[in-house]
Amino acid sequence: MKKIHWGILSTGKIAGSFTEDIRYVPDAEVVAVGSRNQHTAEAFGQKHNIPKRHPSYQALANDPDVDVIYIATPHAFHAENSIICMNANKAVLCEKAFCINAGEAEKMILSARENNVFLMEALVTRHFPVIHQVLDWIKDGLIGEVRIVQANRCAREEFTLESRVVNPELGGGSLLDLGIYVIGFSSMIFGQPPQKATGFGFIGDYGSDEQGASILEYDNGALAILTFALRTATVNDAYIYGTDGYIKIPDLFAVPVVATLHINGQKEVEFEKPIRGNGLHYQVQEVHRCLREGLLESPRLPLEESLQIMETMDKIRSSWDLKYPNDENNLF
Ligand SMILES: NC(=O)c1ccc[n+]([C@@H]2O[C@H](COP(=O)([O-])OP(=O)(O)OC[C@H]3O[C@@H](n4cnc5c(N)ncnc54)[C@H](OP(=O)(O)O)[C@@H]3O)[C@@H](O)[C@H]2O)c1
Repeated sequence: MKKIHWGILSTGKIAGSFTEDIRYVPDAEVVAVGSRNQHTAEAFGQKHNIPKRHPSYQALANDPDVDVIYIATPHAFHAENSIICMNANKAVLCEKAFCINAGEAEKMILSARENNVFLMEALVTRHFPVIHQVLDWIKDGLIGEVRIVQANRCAREEFTLESRVVNPELGGGSLLDLGIYVIGFSSMIFGQPPQKATGFGFIGDYGSDEQGASILEYDNGALAILTFALRTATVNDAYIYGTDGYIKIPDLFAVPVVATLHINGQKEVEFEKPIRGNGLHYQVQEVHRCLREGLLESPRLPLEESLQIMETMDKIRSSWDLKYPNDENNLF
């Protein structure tokens, strides 16, 4: 089978982990990296054994040897970076959060459609085998009707303006960096956008949200109760409660290795699937499946859903009166 050639756009933390995990996908090959300067491209290329090292993102986008590009810049640049790649006819896998607001998401989707290229948000959780099992349990009716989802996603980040997770100019804040996991999870379980969103966010000294909690209401009063935080050491677990039982995905639910099914009055059932590396290769396999089948988006995470998730985050943010400095940017 002809290998699919990847380009890596940027050279930060997750770009390194992703490049390492690609080795678990036999028909994938990383052929190029692009950075904002030659020096970092060279260093990254050397470390990860990547032959072509470009001194700009545009040069990577223009590389004729590349089939698909992985975008791993801070959120504030996802839209612009994805669009230059799609305009150069490249398929794109763009890190979460997809971008910073629904207006940008619409522009990205329009670009994918106009250029007739594949685009997917790298929301890793839903590509893990444990999640496929959880969705099967729900589809088979084993916990009855799903009524409540509860999930927490928190981290202890270094709290300085230099950090992309803190700096508002880079799209920093707990909602876009960590809230995306719990909101994306709830969206996957309920398969629809919420009708209402309420909650609170605490805006810290640097102008970004340090922590937040949201309650989302779905059809027929189903609820999601979600927390996300940059400085609070909570457990990172998820529960799906139905009328006949519940499913638990323990810490770290976003990178799941085990889930348990609890049906009222019965012994719990456990499904475990240890991961290799960081587990980022599952989404690469999904991109390959789509590209080989000629799909322009993934049925596991359609573009309309990425847009709806962004709209939900916009709603949550507007209820806190939180704006990003580049919210109003007219990109193009
Ligand atoms: N899926 C996951 O599990 C996961 C985990 C962590 C992060 N992420 C996502 O991946 C993205 C990157 O996260 P990260 O933790 O890898 O970030 P990071 O370590 O800060 O790296 C970001 C990279 O983006 C490039 N960049 C372009 N413009 C920049 C600017 N103005 N300031 C800083 N860097 C800039 C830089 O690469 P060059 O210098 O080479 O241009 C930099 O190394 C985020 O959107 C994040 O949400 C996903």
